[in-house]
Amino acid sequence: MMQAGELKETEYPIRCMRVQPTRPVPDIVEDVRNGLLRSPRTLPPKYFYDGHGSRLFDRICETPEYYPTRTEDELLSKHSIDIIAEALPDQIIEIGSGSSRKTRRLFDACEVHTHTCEYAPFDVCEPALSQAATELRSEYEWLYITPLVGDYHAGLGNLPAAEGVRLLVFLGSTIGNFTPEETKEFIDEIKRCMRPGDYFLLGADRVKDTSVLNAAYNDAEGITAEFNLNVLRVLNRELGANFNLQSFSHQAFFNEEFSRIEMYLISEIKQNIHLAKIDTTICLDSGEKILTEISRKFHFSELESMLIDSDLKIVKHFQPANQYFSLVLAQLSAQ
Ligand code: AVJ
Repeated sequence: MMQAGELKETEYPIRCMRVQPTRPVPDIVEDVRNGLLRSPRTLPPKYFYDGHGSRLFDRICETPEYYPTRTEDELLSKHSIDIIAEALPDQIIEIGSGSSRKTRRLFDACEVHTHTCEYAPFDVCEPALSQAATELRSEYEWLYITPLVGDYHAGLGNLPAAEGVRLLVFLGSTIGNFTPEETKEFIDEIKRCMRPGDYFLLGADRVKDTSVLNAAYNDAEGITAEFNLNVLRVLNRELGANFNLQSFSHQAFFNEEFSRIEMYLISEIKQNIHLAKIDTTICLDSGEKILTEISRKFHFSELESMLIDSDLKIVKHFQPANQYFSLVLAQLSAQ
């Protein structure tokens, strides 16, 4: 029985756990020095996601052209029961959990199986994590939530130890943002935090008709363009830069040779940009490009060999009839 004055389980503040990186994580100054100040000019896509950028990304997902989120969500709705029945996880760790919106399908499936587990959403922004966790807890009162705060890329080697079966989840085709080398390193790290019996659930976008791919990154409403330009606003704020967003345009297209969408910001004019915080000026020519994101698109056989190369094997694969997207459930190959 509860005593007067005691807090109910669902009223306790949610305690976030900090996960230390296993290697130094570059800050924005270093990333800009290594990317924007070099040739070819690049910026890491993680700087898209300030508050405004995250809201723009949510709006991209609502556009008719951007199919990945909705396709993955449909796959999860349809197959979570099967995924949970196979894995029966004691702990679900979601890498790059954001608002945990799609992960709810896995919790719904736990309810169907009357299976309980712990949920550890892992992401960099503590306030966003706490908010997502609070909302989740009111929807799934049985769910024990421990948000993990840190750089999920560098922190994988320091995940808190846990008993039982772990299901590591990496959704949204975020894996497409990595180069082939980064992908190999990432999946190797995933493998290193898996023990026999653990599972890895990966969502990845597939190669398809070029016109469908190009449309998804050039929505008619121009939200993807706004999202792309927003990174300049982030640089203005964080580095005291003076980018005029109106003098840049958005470009995104499917590069068949590398099987990836490349997204650029193009300087419409010849201009100098001052970055006050690092006391540097960059000179951009008219038409000069900054690569802001790659988004790789995979053949199923590639996904399979990527996992095999890191000693993982696919135990289940889910795709829609049009083969637009893959959800793969993998385990250690030797166990
Ligand atoms: C969140 C990385 C999966 O690459 O499709 C959407 C980001 N960029 N529109 C993607 C994005 C432009 C998205 N990911």
